[in-house]
Amino acid sequence: MGALEKEQSLAAQLRFTPIPGAPFGVEVNGLEWGRHDAESIRLLTIALRRHLLILFRGQPSPSEQELDTFLRCFGRLVLDTEDGKFHYRKHLDQTGPASELMKENRHNIQRAADNTGSTYYAPSEYGASELIWHTDQAHKPQLKIISVLEAMDFEPGAVPTIFRDMYTAYEMLPRDLRSELEFRQLAFYDPRLPGPDEQPRLGDAMHPLFIPHPQTGRRSIYANDSVDRIIGLDRAESDRILKMLREHTDRNAPHFTHQWRTGDLVIWDNIGIHHRRDAVPPKQRRRLRQHGGVAE
Ligand SMILES: [Fe+2]
Repeated sequence: MGALEKEQSLAAQLRFTPIPGAPFGVEVNGLEWGRHDAESIRLLTIALRRHLLILFRGQPSPSEQELDTFLRCFGRLVLDTEDGKFHYRKHLDQTGPASELMKENRHNIQRAADNTGSTYYAPSEYGASELIWHTDQAHKPQLKIISVLEAMDFEPGAVPTIFRDMYTAYEMLPRDLRSELEFRQLAFYDPRLPGPDEQPRLGDAMHPLFIPHPQTGRRSIYANDSVDRIIGLDRAESDRILKMLREHTDRNAPHFTHQWRTGDLVIWDNIGIHHRRDAVPPKQRRRLRQHGGVAE
């Protein structure tokens, strides 16, 4: 069998099925971790562009090395960037400076010992607090374009994750509003660092309000529930516009609730998709692996 035929046969094993009842997202079956090839990655990239979220279900869990290798096919890992190295060194360093939040959560957050891309999360016996609408690492200057979560051990009915499509939310904005706000920038603060009252600064990251995906140029509304303000407007005006955008998004962003099953591995477009979850009640079995993802 020639190289081309072999590639076609691996890629031909992939099955793409829309997620029932979801306005975006696709389930993929037939991928073997460690056996992907250029054609499979091309098809998966198309699926990600088109469906924004890919669910791998009912497949064996990849090893940390297999997941790192797979994700490197989509770009450089956050872990491999200077910013990522700095971030994950802080995760590993149990003696260095860390926020109270990180210290409190140390027994529930477990970094892979050999510092591959994965971190494991489980709620404490007291549960875990709500996660508001966000994109991962919006508070950092370097964009993360692909996010990854895997359900390692989930009890049936455990708290789901909700995803929403902010590209469509942007495309549903009235044209005059899009023009008016086109070049505005947002300021974010890193929730792991002391707040601006305690440690005055302009912000930890700045991103376009209507952010273009670095590879496709497709624009999304990047304002989420953790944004501090729109730069260049006074606080009242910024609050007014952010509230209006929030109401617009609530009405117009397609969304769906993902009920996790143990073994689900989801990768999604972290520029155009926001996610959130409710608080996790005490003692719920809900163990996740988060991979550091792919940088711009
Ligand atoms: Fe997140």
